[in-house]
Amino acid sequence: MLVLGIETSCDETGVALYCSARGLMAPIVYSQTELHAKYGGVVPELASRDHVRKLIPLIRQTLLEASLTVKEIDAIAYTAGPGLIGSLMVGATIGRTLAWSLKIPSIGVHHMEAHLLAPLLSSERPKPPFVALLVSGGHTQLVYVARIGNYKLLGQSLDDAAGEAFDKTAKLLGLGYPGGPEISRIAQRGNSRRFKLPQPLTDKPTLNFSFSGLKTAVRNLIVKTSPMTEQTKADIAASFELAVTETLRKKCKQAVAQTGAKTLIVSGGVAANSTLRETLRTLPCEVHYPPQELCTDNGAMIAFAGHERLCAGIVEPLKISTSARWEIESLPSILME
Ligand code: KG4
Ligand code: ZN
Repeated sequence: MLVLGIETSCDETGVALYCSARGLMAPIVYSQTELHAKYGGVVPELASRDHVRKLIPLIRQTLLEASLTVKEIDAIAYTAGPGLIGSLMVGATIGRTLAWSLKIPSIGVHHMEAHLLAPLLSSERPKPPFVALLVSGGHTQLVYVARIGNYKLLGQSLDDAAGEAFDKTAKLLGLGYPGGPEISRIAQRGNSRRFKLPQPLTDKPTLNFSFSGLKTAVRNLIVKTSPMTEQTKADIAASFELAVTETLRKKCKQAVAQTGAKTLIVSGGVAANSTLRETLRTLPCEVHYPPQELCTDNGAMIAFAGHERLCAGIVEPLKISTSARWEIESLPSILME
């Protein structure tokens, strides 16, 4: 089965093909980072308009790179949520309409399930049961995966997501957007032990997270150390990165112990962070990631997640439905190995 995947939930237009026999083909991601950089964050209306401009040319380019024609596609998978509703509607409308005109099935994919399954696109395909740490700009969740399609939410952020904390802290430090890679870059020459920042909820049995207090602590630190030298800025970035990665490590350790899982998978934009990867090495379990370029939003993970569901016989009626909010536990289970 050849599935065309379309991702437009936020500020990346992603398109890719996933084929049962040949695997991933011609993944292309167009990032709107430059468009939003001067606003210090994603402007939803600008994002959806840009998806309108970019999506169809990108679908053409993907097919061209794979040396395939539109008639060879067997099914279409598009992100149906959670995400920015206007952006979601662009991918859903184009994906659904294309499927209807080609008389092929289509499926609306859960964006976080797609992140969760992205590590399965790497050469060492981890097998459930496992615990998944999903760390993106919109979500921080720990999910127990008994089988693909069977998800139990163990904990999640009560306020800011980890990626959001990176983005907001970067803004406070006068760095660019997206903040994760920027903080990571300057933290390399910083002293992570200079400032002791809070590691929220790590002394509690809960598997929930809370990152908004950490951001406030950084704000207070900036006021106290102003005017900041470049070294102080780097030290704050490194101390912040240490607090976030240590918090994530402690909660993952707890989740693995609590569930008895032998494997942890980590995905979403923050999974690209090298300090996090270094920190999680100390856990008493196997840790798997998606290939580096598939940590942040992309069409490949949507094509793959759609492929898994379509192969399990799940298709959708002829309607377009998107959701800005969508609980991962509400997904129907896939009965396959
Ligand atoms: O998964 P993603 O591309 O989009 C959402 O679904 O939200 O994640 C984007 C988030 C942003 O907050 C960005 O700052 C963060 O991932 N991010 C990183 C790194 N690369 C991206 N955070 C920390 N370190 C990185 N290297
Ligand atoms: Zn994402």
